Amino acid sequence: MGNLWLVGMMGSGKSTVGRSIAATTDRRFIDVDSMVEERAGMSIAGIVDEQGEVAFREMEGAEIRRLSAEPARGGTGRVIATGGGVVLDPAGVEAMRRSGVVAWLDAPAGVLAGRIGGEDRPLLAGSDVASRLAEILAVRHSLYHQAAHYRIDADRPVGEVAAEVVGCARIAVDDASEVLIGPGLPDRLLPASSGREQAVLICQPGSRPVAGSVLELLRSEAEATLIEVPDRDAAKSVDTLAVLYSRLAELNLGRHDTIVGVGGGAVTDLAGFVAATWLRGIESVLVPTTLLGAVDASIGGKTGINVMGKNLVGSFWHPSRVAISLDVLSRLPEPLLLEGSAEAVKAGFIADPRLVDLFMEHGPSFPMAEVVSRAVAVKAEVVSEDFRETGRRAILNFGHTLGHGIEVVCGLSHGHAVAVGMVAAAAVSADRLGFDESRVRVPLERLGLPTRIDTAASDAILRIVQRDKKRTATGLRMVLLRDIGDPVVEYVDEAALRLGLAAVGIAA
Ligand SMILES: NC(=O)c1ccc[n+]([C@@H]2O[C@H](COP(=O)([O-])OP(=O)(O)OC[C@H]3O[C@@H](n4cnc5c(N)ncnc54)[C@H](O)[C@@H]3O)[C@@H](O)[C@H]2O)c1
Ligand SMILES: [Zn+2]
Repeated sequence: MGNLWLVGMMGSGKSTVGRSIAATTDRRFIDVDSMVEERAGMSIAGIVDEQGEVAFREMEGAEIRRLSAEPARGGTGRVIATGGGVVLDPAGVEAMRRSGVVAWLDAPAGVLAGRIGGEDRPLLAGSDVASRLAEILAVRHSLYHQAAHYRIDADRPVGEVAAEVVGCARIAVDDASEVLIGPGLPDRLLPASSGREQAVLICQPGSRPVAGSVLELLRSEAEATLIEVPDRDAAKSVDTLAVLYSRLAELNLGRHDTIVGVGGGAVTDLAGFVAATWLRGIESVLVPTTLLGAVDASIGGKTGINVMGKNLVGSFWHPSRVAISLDVLSRLPEPLLLEGSAEAVKAGFIADPRLVDLFMEHGPSFPMAEVVSRAVAVKAEVVSEDFRETGRRAILNFGHTLGHGIEVVCGLSHGHAVAVGMVAAAAVSADRLGFDESRVRVPLERLGLPTRIDTAASDAILRIVQRDKKRTATGLRMVLLRDIGDPVVEYVDEAALRLGLAAVGIAA
C-alpha cells in the first residue's frame, strides 16, 4: 500500500488528521518532525538554533527519501505528517509523489494562527504570528499546489477532513501509468511532462457534467477542446473514429499533446484507442465516470472499438494517468452502480477476500473509497504482472466464459450476465474442487445482482462460448476457485459447462 503524505502549513492539522486516520484504519502514523528529532537527539528548535535551518532541511530531506524508498510492508501502509517546509525541496516532493499520494491540508492564515497560538514554532519566533503566517503562505501556496495530488479544505472539523483524506490513493500500474483516487478531481490533471500545449477532451452524454469540470481544470493547464461522442457502444465505431481523427487533424494535435477521456468504459476504450493510434501513440489521461469504468475498463491499458464484433479492433496502450473521483461515483444512479459492483466483487473473488466481506457487510451501500481502491489494486497488480494477457491476466475472466454467452443470448446487461456467469463458475468449482458455491452466490444476492435465470438457452450459449474460444485462442478454459482469492484456470469440457449452466437454471 502506498504512502499517504500530508503536507501543509503549520497549524493545518497534519498530525491530528494523521493520528485520527491511524486510529480508524490499519495505516501507521509517522511524524517526520519527530523522526528528525529522534535521530538528532534534540528538538527541531534546538537543531535550527544550533545548526541553522539549512541543516534541519537536509535532515528532513533524508527522512523523506528514506520513507519514500522503503516500501511499506504487507497490507499496512503509513500516513505521514510532514513539516510545513518540505515543499521547498523539489527532489523530496518528487519522491513523495512517486511513493504514494500527497494531500495538502489547506486553511487560511487566520485559521492557522488561531490554532497554533502558544506552541513552540522556531520559524515564527519573535513575530506577529498571523501576519508572518500570511507571508509564508503567500510564498508557499503555489508550491503546495505543485506538490499535492489533492487539495483538501482543512478549515473543518478533524473527522470531516480525515474522512476525505483517507479515501485518497495512488496505485501504480506497470510503472507506466498511475491511478489517482480522491474525493474529487486532482489538483492538476495533466502529467507534468514538458512541452504540453493542447488537450482534447472526449466525453459522452452521461458524462457531460463531469466533463464540464474537467474542461475548466484543463484550461488552467493547457488549451483544451471538448468533443462529445454518441452514447454507449455507439461511440466505439469506425464512424466516430473518423470524425475524431479529422477533428484532431484540424486542431493540429501534436506528439506532446494529450487525449483526455471522460466517461464510462465506452469512452475510455475509444479515447485510449485514439491516443494509441494518433501519430503512432500520444499520451492519454482517463477520467472514468462509471464504477465499471473506474474499477475495470480504464485500468490495464486495453483499448478498442467495435468492428463487425465487439472489441475486435484494439491495442494495448497505457494511459499516463487515470483520475477517479469518489464524489462522481457516489452519485451514480443505482443501475450503473450495480453494473460496476459485479466487476468489483469479481476482483474480490479472485484476489481479495476483504472486498467480498465488505459487500457481505454493506450490500449495495458499500464504502465507495475502500471498494474502489481495493478493486483497482487487484486489477493493477494482475496486469502489471501480465500486460499482454499471456498468463495470469486470464483470472480476470472469472465469470466471463459463460457470462459473455449469457449476455449475448439472454440479453442481460454485462454486469448481470457476469454475476450469473460467476455463480455458474462457482458451481463448476464446487463439482471439481469442492468449493462452497454459496460463497460466491450469497454476496451477489446481497448486492441485488441476479444469480440465476431460468431459461432453455444452453445450446445457443455454448455456440457463443465456442466462437469466443476460437477468437481468444486460449482453448476452452475457465477460471475456477479453490477458495475465495485462490483462482485456477482449467481446461473444461462441454459437460462441465452444461453443469454450470444447469446450476443457474439454464437448461437445453
Ligand atoms: N478496456 C477494458 O479492459 C474494458 C473492460 C470492461 C469493459 N470495457 C468496455 O466498457 C464499456 C462499458 O462501460 P460502461 O458500463 O461504463 O458503459 P458506457 O461507457 O456505455 O456508459 C454507460 C452509460 O452511463 C452513462 N454515464 C457515464 N457517466 C455517468 C455518470 N457519471 N452519471 C450518469 N450516467 C453516466 C453513459 O452516458 C452511458 O449512457 C464497454 O464498451 C466494454 O467493452 C472495457
Ligand atoms: Zn466484464
